[in-house]
Amino acid sequence: MAYKLFIPGPIEVSEKTYKAMSQAIVGHRSKDFSALVGRIMPDLQNLFYTKDPVYLSTSSSWGVMEGSLRNVVQKGVLNCGNGAFSDKWYDVSKRCGLNAEMLQFDWGKPVDPEAVRKALSTGKFDAITIIHNETSTGTMSDIKALMEVIREFPDVVSIIDTVSSFSGMPIKKDELGIDVMMAGCQKAMAIPPGLAFLSVSQKAMERAKKTEGRGYYFDFLEFQKFWEKNQTPSTPVISLIYALESKLEDIKNEGLEKRYARHLENNKIVREWGYGYGFELFPEEKYGSITLNCFKNNLDIDIAAVNEELKKRFNMMFNCGYGKIKGKTFRISNMGDETPETMRELLGNLDTILPEFIKK
Ligand SMILES: Cc1ncc(COP(=O)(O)O)c(C=O)c1O
Repeated sequence: MAYKLFIPGPIEVSEKTYKAMSQAIVGHRSKDFSALVGRIMPDLQNLFYTKDPVYLSTSSSWGVMEGSLRNVVQKGVLNCGNGAFSDKWYDVSKRCGLNAEMLQFDWGKPVDPEAVRKALSTGKFDAITIIHNETSTGTMSDIKALMEVIREFPDVVSIIDTVSSFSGMPIKKDELGIDVMMAGCQKAMAIPPGLAFLSVSQKAMERAKKTEGRGYYFDFLEFQKFWEKNQTPSTPVISLIYALESKLEDIKNEGLEKRYARHLENNKIVREWGYGYGFELFPEEKYGSITLNCFKNNLDIDIAAVNEELKKRFNMMFNCGYGKIKGKTFRISNMGDETPETMRELLGNLDTILPEFIKK
């Protein structure tokens, strides 16, 4: 059943990472575990470009996305929606019983800073959620412009999902003034799913201290208490933390700038390839994600059949669209350890399949 994943997470995991995961388990209250967390933390903070703590959450990203709402929202939250995951965040806010409003943009459009300014100016909100890289549509919003606007509202806590852009490009948390920033391990970090990262500013922590109903599992105060001991509140997914240590070592060896440049180059290779067939990008080009490409299926081919063929003949898979644009779009990830060579291998395989499916 082994096939290589070019879906936008989870993605291909290296042998080195799998090997790191097979190290013997230690107790999570042991000195060995604290030493492990102590070793990785500076590098993890470096990747977040932050001096704030980064918490290790044994959950998928939704855990910390929901948890963050419950820690900081008192008055009301503005959920900016422009795709499946960001739209869902509004639904999650309501399920948490919060006073939530949706600032809706068409799928494939970025979150517009002016619209954010207008909505926050109403004074109804003390928190905002934005997904930097909407994976469902391959759309990346201008986080710098958005944070410039949000910083005009000191009472608003910014909760920014960088789940599928983190470590594929620099997102400088402290410089941008992001309060709560989260990422998942199974995207550009190329670790098997199950671990999420969460960095919380002092301002967000102060808010959490005065917020009722934070619960336990994702309580910022619990995370902080144990972070100070290089531990986690409950038994963590230790094998994935070994994987994280190994991946941070890979990133250090490659160098951040080279890593970002590689993601960009891989992304461009796929985009040009798609254009070569006449596929259009789903978002406007300048808002196209750099960790994946979401193309419109404007040639109207049986994209699912292409994918099945790719799996059968070449042991590889991409993704045939998400949510309401399933089948109407397809997505190819270039996250993680991929290189121009491995991307070209995928595209070369697709080249042998696609012509049979393209209507003359
Ligand atoms: C941008 C973004 N946010 C949140 C999620 C949810 O992540 P998870 O399913 O790991 O909780 C995803 C999943 O693909 C995502 O792409």
